[in-house]
Amino acid sequence: MEKKPVVLAVAGKGGVGKTSLAAVMVKLLVEAYPDKKILAIDADPAVGLSTALGVEPGLTLDDIRKEAVETAASGDTKATVEVLGEARYRIFDCMVEMDGFSFIAIGRPEAAGCYCKINTYLKEVIASISDNFDYIVIDGEAGIEQINRRVMEKVTHLLLVTDSSKKGCDVVKTIKRVADDLVMYDRIGAVVNRVPSEDVLKFMNLGDIPLLGWIGADTNLTECDLKGQSVLTISDDSAIVKGMNSVLNKMLV
Ligand SMILES: Nc1ncnc2c1ncn2[C@@H]1O[C@H](COP(=O)(O)OP(=O)(O)O)[C@@H](O)[C@H]1O
Ligand SMILES: [Mg+2]
Repeated sequence: MEKKPVVLAVAGKGGVGKTSLAAVMVKLLVEAYPDKKILAIDADPAVGLSTALGVEPGLTLDDIRKEAVETAASGDTKATVEVLGEARYRIFDCMVEMDGFSFIAIGRPEAAGCYCKINTYLKEVIASISDNFDYIVIDGEAGIEQINRRVMEKVTHLLLVTDSSKKGCDVVKTIKRVADDLVMYDRIGAVVNRVPSEDVLKFMNLGDIPLLGWIGADTNLTECDLKGQSVLTISDDSAIVKGMNSVLNKMLV
């Protein structure tokens, strides 16, 4: 039987909790599946998942992409062929091994305009390494760009994150519409984060997106943030952990 990795990704407006929820997903998967191979990808050029997971970031995908581009630009054909051949192994040089999972970061391109190149590269990277893992969690960039550019094409479980704002809901509805064409997902659903009270949910319009759960304001997460601690250390009683546990159980059926 063909082995297919479960590729989970978060998407939504900026600041709604994507990185925090992605980090909690990693925590839950690591605890539930100690024998499985789990990869966390920070696909947001704004960078954040490394901090949330307590990872000391090393070489990034953008670093090795730039290296390959520079070698190609030097006009040395032999070197170019070698660099491309080595690229797959270089990806593993970017991987940081943590307790129970591996971590890789796209990096922060300095110049505007580099974003599309790194996104194209990221798409190739995901395709080439995904078979080495059982579970992959991708913390995506805010908005629609990575869905549009098919970086998220291989995502099997797409979690649309919003707060209770109209803008947040509009963004996830737009993402869903585009993802229906450009992402080969098995499961899609929304989680509403930082909800002041459950009553608010009935005033929200998520269109045709199934609601998988909601999470209130979490003081443990705020404390974590204040102290600069990893989300992995957060108590299992926390609203965000309990909420995401229920969301994951619904998604991974
Ligand atoms: N449920 C929550 N309760 C309290 N603070 C939260 C909650 N969700 C997210 N936050 C905080 O909101 C900020 C933005 O969250 P983050 O996960 O970085 O969002 P995004 O990745 O979507 O930009 C962070 O400081 C985070 O700790
Ligand atoms: Mg983020």
